[in-house]
Amino acid sequence: MKKIIVNGGNPLCGSVDLQGSKNSALPILAAVAAADGISVIHNCPDLTDVTAALKILEHIGCKIKREGHTVIADSSCANRFDIPESLMREMRSSIVFLGALLARFGNASVSSPGGCEIGLRPIDLHLNALRNMNVQISERGGRLNCKAAQGINGGNISLSFPSVGATENIMLASMSARGETVVTNAAREPEIIDLASFLQKCGAKISGAGQSVIRINPPEKLTGAEHTIISDRIVASTFMACAASAGGKIAVSGVIREHLDPIIPVFEAAGCESDFNGRELIFKAPSRVSRVKSIRTMPYPGFPTDSQAIVMAMLAKAKGTSVITEKIFENRFRHVPELVKMGADIRVEDGCVAVVEGVEELHGAKVTACDLRGGSALVAAALGAAGKTVVEEIHHIDRGCEAIEKSLTALGADIKRE
Ligand code: EPZ
Repeated sequence: MKKIIVNGGNPLCGSVDLQGSKNSALPILAAVAAADGISVIHNCPDLTDVTAALKILEHIGCKIKREGHTVIADSSCANRFDIPESLMREMRSSIVFLGALLARFGNASVSSPGGCEIGLRPIDLHLNALRNMNVQISERGGRLNCKAAQGINGGNISLSFPSVGATENIMLASMSARGETVVTNAAREPEIIDLASFLQKCGAKISGAGQSVIRINPPEKLTGAEHTIISDRIVASTFMACAASAGGKIAVSGVIREHLDPIIPVFEAAGCESDFNGRELIFKAPSRVSRVKSIRTMPYPGFPTDSQAIVMAMLAKAKGTSVITEKIFENRFRHVPELVKMGADIRVEDGCVAVVEGVEELHGAKVTACDLRGGSALVAAALGAAGKTVVEEIHHIDRGCEAIEKSLTALGADIKRE
């Protein structure tokens, strides 16, 4: 299996371009299946999860062309509404194709995405919402067979939790609903706004995206459109954590400042400085970061769960004790034992609270990535550790970070992929 080798100790300096957002690209590529005709999607990151989404689009009959970071998809010949287990298994977020296939065909047959490294990740909110939209769902043998025999109904859908995926599935299914769909307690993440922006270009009328109540009125016919995906706020925070771990000053171009509003205060509390020059973030780290008393992950606009692991990596060497509470996923501390192998002093209480006693120094070790963001955290820690670190199972990282070792090499890190 491929691994990443890091010789820590080099402060980072230089500038890096920020990739397009994985968590925006995936639902938008699903929306391509719901829109008839040609869509052109720019700033689509080169990630294994994106490749998996494109395979699903080809499986249902779309014609796909990839030119650098642009995807040209012609869905006019799409004629299947089943996604085989092998493709569903390639990435968790394949469940968001459910709503798109229902909108296009009134039918969808997918396999349950199943849990993944960070928790059970049930889909009850998705299924309850779709049933409220008049979708009949039968679950048999790990397959979900969904049918809107009398068509999809709009109406009021209230979510008990602002689930990102459930909000996206409702938005997609509502593209062929009778009447207006109103989603209450909707997720407010920037990726929801980006999906709404694409669907509006395809002809839908959507108001309130990014707020807790979204109103959706579908067009007569959803047709393909051209769209540029927003940049990836989590990868931006990954570069920030790498610089905070290794020390130094970096520039990250292509950031969207307001998307970093929930993240910047945590880095500033740790003693880092952030300035913006248009869409360029200038980020400066102290020689040793300070502890951050308490961090709690929350739905947007709270501190993002996807930045939890990388911030923990940064705080492993902080002056003082930091407490990180993970409120979104029940198994999102799998990077802790790996960081402890590097000399970190972290204990987990009640499964959701990590107490991080900052140590003077981390040392290189052989560690294993267990999930995408945990793997990124190990790379961040390795950059600031003394000696050589080998990170294994890096396919997890490749799901969401485009060629992480190339970006970090450009910033002066001694890192390579084997
Ligand atoms: C999206 O996952 C992101 N993935 C995740 O990023 C991100 O961590 C998460 O939103 C929260 O921001 C993509 O966008 C592809 P949720 P999603 O539904 O939609 C529970 C990464 O590293 N829940 O908001 O799966 C669920 O178990 C990934 O890029 C139910 O109980 O997140 C979790 O505890 C990881 N029932 C919480 O809600 C449901 O039906 C948040 O889940 C759905 C969710």
